[in-house]
Parts: sequence; structure tokens; C-alpha cells
Amino acid sequence: MKKILSTLALSALCSLPSLAANEATVTLLPSEESPIIVKEIYGQFAEHLGTCIYGGLWVGPDSPIPNTNGYRNDVLNALKELHVPVLRWPGGCFADEYHWMDGIGPKQNRPRMVNNNWGGTVEDNSFGTHDFFDLCEMLGCEPYLSGNVGSGSVEELAKWVEYITAEDGPMATLRKQNGREKPWHLKYLGVGNESWGCGGNFTPEYYSDVYRRYQTYCRNYNGNHLYKIASGASDYDYNWTDVMMRNAGRFMDGISLHYYTVLGWNGSKGSAINFNESDYYWALGKCLEVGDVVKRHCEIMDKYDPKKRVGLLVDEWGTWFDEEPGTVPGHLFQQNSLRDAMVAALSLNTFHTFTDRVKMTNIAQIANVLQSMVLTRGDQMVLTPTYYVFKMYVPHQDAKLVPLNVATPMIATRDGRKVPVVSATASAKNGKTTISLVNTDLKNEAEITINLSGISAKNISGEILTAASMNDYNDFGQPEKVTLKPFNKGYQVKGGKLTVTLPAKSIVTLSLQ
Ligand code: AHR
Repeated sequence: MKKILSTLALSALCSLPSLAANEATVTLLPSEESPIIVKEIYGQFAEHLGTCIYGGLWVGPDSPIPNTNGYRNDVLNALKELHVPVLRWPGGCFADEYHWMDGIGPKQNRPRMVNNNWGGTVEDNSFGTHDFFDLCEMLGCEPYLSGNVGSGSVEELAKWVEYITAEDGPMATLRKQNGREKPWHLKYLGVGNESWGCGGNFTPEYYSDVYRRYQTYCRNYNGNHLYKIASGASDYDYNWTDVMMRNAGRFMDGISLHYYTVLGWNGSKGSAINFNESDYYWALGKCLEVGDVVKRHCEIMDKYDPKKRVGLLVDEWGTWFDEEPGTVPGHLFQQNSLRDAMVAALSLNTFHTFTDRVKMTNIAQIANVLQSMVLTRGDQMVLTPTYYVFKMYVPHQDAKLVPLNVATPMIATRDGRKVPVVSATASAKNGKTTISLVNTDLKNEAEITINLSGISAKNISGEILTAASMNDYNDFGQPEKVTLKPFNKGYQVKGGKLTVTLPAKSIVTLSLQ
């Protein structure tokens, strides 16, 4: 199945000479003008879905599982290491069935509801607005609320904003009665989620008018300034972005885009851990296609907003496989293998190249759902391979992009996509240059020559993420099979060039000073 194609310069406009199968060249192109990789590219998403909130993040203060005011200590500590910049909540599809007033006040009085989208599980509303904002404060991240448009009202959403951000008035009084004196800061407000689907099955023409109406009444109280986000397209639906930008572009600060690495929406999505080489390369090719998809949405946005005032927010992305056998249907609990780590790294490398328009991305989801950072079972917690990629990439947050060209062999996937053997990204901050390199090839090392273009590399340190098998994952009660290790050998600097030997199927981050 695997076939090495001719060398391709991924981001260069010029053609580059042919290289042998396992050789690649990376040329760094540092520039004072290059943009910042905004930290919000590393955003997370937590939905009332399965055990993401209940069991994953929140166990309640009376739980025997060690917690701080109800939040799991193990998960909190792990997430702090990721410097989570922004957290989207409460959905997802759940957002358009959620009535925030059911989640405030004494917990024993809160009404219950059926979580219709996700397994029909009964939701007791014990985790609500106060709990979410407290969590954001503990993580030191910006909250990103998804408002209910599909089954809510303009008044309900307007009052939620007032409850959270006003210093005085009826909603502020209610908030104070519920124990929070000071308003919270709220920047990111989503007006609906997947409004073309679970969020109301709107047409873009109709939703664009609805969006204009809802956002009108979401006010800026007492110096709080909302960044208003319209519900955007699913992957290849370019018409949605076109209509939204044309009809409502001037009323929004951002528009979302959802892109999953998924086989399809009907039938099996394949196992997260039992897959073959063909499935592995398919997933990498599919995830990389987000680059083409984002580019086309950006081109449409450029037509209406050439100054790039409106951000494109990929506020749901990641792998979507079959649920693990034996887990609750509808809870989207999937394991996470070295393949997921590859998807994470390739996706982040791609997002870095759209810093002029892509202002946030949110991987789905933070715990126990889809491509998670952590998995929990009872009092146990597993750090996933995806978690480790986010950890390795922390230095890229808010760093200045170092543009680069990559000349690499390509691998053909079964459905005609092409996966580069080597993918790379680089950034600079506080006198340090961070280069992240991926070797997607399952069998062969990659010999990479990096033209440093004058960047200092007197001191180099590195970390590597790999495993014995592409199917390896971290399981409860077992030693980690996919974990970060120091990468201290396998590179040398000579004549302004850094040569690195990347083991097969590995991700490496090098720090240069
Ligand atoms: O992330 C899971 C679901 O995927 C979200 O609820 C929805 O927005 C999307 O379809």
C-alpha cells in the first residue's frame, strides 16, 4: 500500500531537488514580521457528554476520589501542565438543549433533564455556571461559552451574559445570592453550535438572521467585551461560510469550523486501537486535509473580510472512532494510541500555518470523550498520547512563528491522499527556538537536515514521543507504553546545519538556544 512519491516542498513555492526516501530538508526562514502562534490554538473543549464532566473533571466534594472542591486533583494537576488557554463549554450539541438557569442555585433544587444527544443520560445539573467558571479560574484559562440558540431564547442567552458579567441589576443580584459577588470576565461567546444540525437544523440564510438577532442582545457590561462567535460550517460546507460572512460577517468577531478525522457519519468509524497500516496512513491523510479545508474557508472569508478582522475558530477537531466495546453507547469513550498523537501533532503543525486567520482551535474533548487528553476510570487516570503532544507543544503557545520549508518524501494513502514523511513547525520565544518534527513513516528513520539560517543552536535539548507499535496506548493500571522521553542523541550541528535522525513513527521537539 505504501509508496514513496516524489519530493514535495510543502510550504515552499519553489521546487526543490529530489531526496532519497528517508531524507528530508527543513529550512527555517526567521523573520521579524512573522506572526504569533496565539495560545488559543491550544484550546480545549468540555461537553456534558458521557463522563467528560461527571467523573472526568468533576466528582463532587464528597467523593472518595481526591479532589479540590469537587474537581479531581489528578486531572487538574495534569491539565495545569498543558497551560490550557481556553475551555469551551457546555457543548457541543448539549449546548442547544442546555438551560443555564437549571444549573444555578442550591444543587438539591436543580431540575433534571435528559441529555438527548448523548445516550439519553439523565443530567442533574449539579455542574453549572459557577462550577465552570471556578474550573477556569483554577486552570487559569479563558472561558468560552456556547449559548443555546436551538431550543433557547434571545432573553435566556442575554440574561446569561448579564448574570455572568454585570456588576448590578437583577441578574447580578441573583448571582450574588448564589454566592458570587464579583462578575466574571467572559470573552468568548458562541451563539449556537452546529446550527446546521443538532443546533436547530437551520439553513445558513435563516441562521444568519437569527445570529444577528441573538448577538444584538448580548451586551458588554461594565467593561467586559464579548468576542462573538457565529456557529460555522462542518468541514466541506463552504456555502455555509459564504452565506454567513455575506449576511452577518459584520456582526461577528469569529466564526467556527468543525473538522473531525472520521471515516464517515454512518456505520463503523473503525477501532481506536485495532487498526492496520492502511488505517493509520488514512487517518493521517484525513487529518492533514484540514489544511485544504481551512484554506478554502479562509479564501471565502477573505472575499468579505480582506483585513481579516473575523477569526476562523476550529472549535471542534480530532479523531472520532468507534466507542470502546463495553462502554455506554452515546458516550463517545475511545482509547487513544500513538496514531492519535500523530494526528494531534500534524493538525497543530497545520494550524500554525494559518495564524493570520485561525484564532482558536479546540480539540474534542478534554476528558473521556473522543480524542481526549486524559481518560479516567473510577479513581484511576491515564494520560493519553495526545496529552503528551500538547505537553511537548506548550513552548509554541504565544511564540513567534518561524516560517519554514520542508522538502520531504510523501506516502500515498489508500484513498489517494498524500502524507509527508516529515512534518515540522518552529517558533521562537524568550531567546529560545522550538522545533517540532514528526516522522510519520512506520518503518524507517528519517534523516533530517535543518538549515538553521543563523539561528543559534549552542545548547540543544529534546523530547521524543514514540512507542513500539502504532497501536500502543496507555491503559489503566499498566505502565505507560506511549510516553515522553528525553531525546539527547541523534542530532548534531555542523556548518549552520542541524542534522537529526528521527526514529520511525516518532514526534520530537527540540529546544535550541
Ligand atoms: O464533540 C462531540 C460532538 O460533535 C459535539 O457535541 C457536536 O458539536 C459535534 O457534532
